[in-house]
Amino acid sequence: MQINILTLFPQMFDSPFSASIFKRAIDGKLVRVNIHNIRDYTHDKHHTVDDYTYGGGAGMILKSDPIFEAVESIKSSIRLKEGAGVVPVILLTPQGRLFSQQIAWELSRHSHLILICGRYEGVDERVLEHLVTDEISIGDYVLSGGELAAIVVVDAVVRLLPGVLGSEASALDDSHATGLLEYPQYTRPAVYRGWAVPEVLLSGNHAQIAKWRREQAVLRTMKRRPELLDKANLCLEERQLVEDLKQS
Ligand code: 6GU
Repeated sequence: MQINILTLFPQMFDSPFSASIFKRAIDGKLVRVNIHNIRDYTHDKHHTVDDYTYGGGAGMILKSDPIFEAVESIKSSIRLKEGAGVVPVILLTPQGRLFSQQIAWELSRHSHLILICGRYEGVDERVLEHLVTDEISIGDYVLSGGELAAIVVVDAVVRLLPGVLGSEASALDDSHATGLLEYPQYTRPAVYRGWAVPEVLLSGNHAQIAKWRREQAVLRTMKRRPELLDKANLCLEERQLVEDLKQS
């Protein structure tokens, strides 16, 4: 997968992509991340990327032309090299649709992505109307720009690419992949400061362990994120467990 990021602050992407699973994925050529400075696509002496808002008001708005030119240049270099299908052009903005594991899976199926980091004051609406194919927000709070949101989206997508995680199974087990939060996990020692690991986990009985984990996942989801249960894939027994717990 090739990910192209348009930003006014390229340096914000230096460290996140140089550690851990990103580094492995990039070194292993499973993903390529290109950072493009929007300012490089200006033509005036002062490299102007923003301007006052028509009609008046505080804050500067990102201009259309450098963004259009950057995206068009990236798209044509993609087309020259490989006949990629439709390349999503995604604006990171608090006005976008709320990012989720499902959207991460959707994005992971594309060979190329173009991400535009907005700034919170705004982007000229013509970019949204005529260039962008999708707008994404990572939550109901305001960041000063789309950069951190882009890093979040790229992280969630890259770890789903085949070969990036150690074992293919692990992404499917994640919190939210199953529609439930994750069950509690422990490692050695079996007793720490007098706090013992649940006995079933030491039993070696794999069926019992699987049952306990599933119950714990349901319980935890019910306590912390009950709204997730409506969409989760629960069997009849698990539905009954939820009903029983609601009563008690
Ligand atoms: Cl994508 N951008 C900004 N500026 N703030 C956000 C966001 C994005 N998602 C949540 N808050």
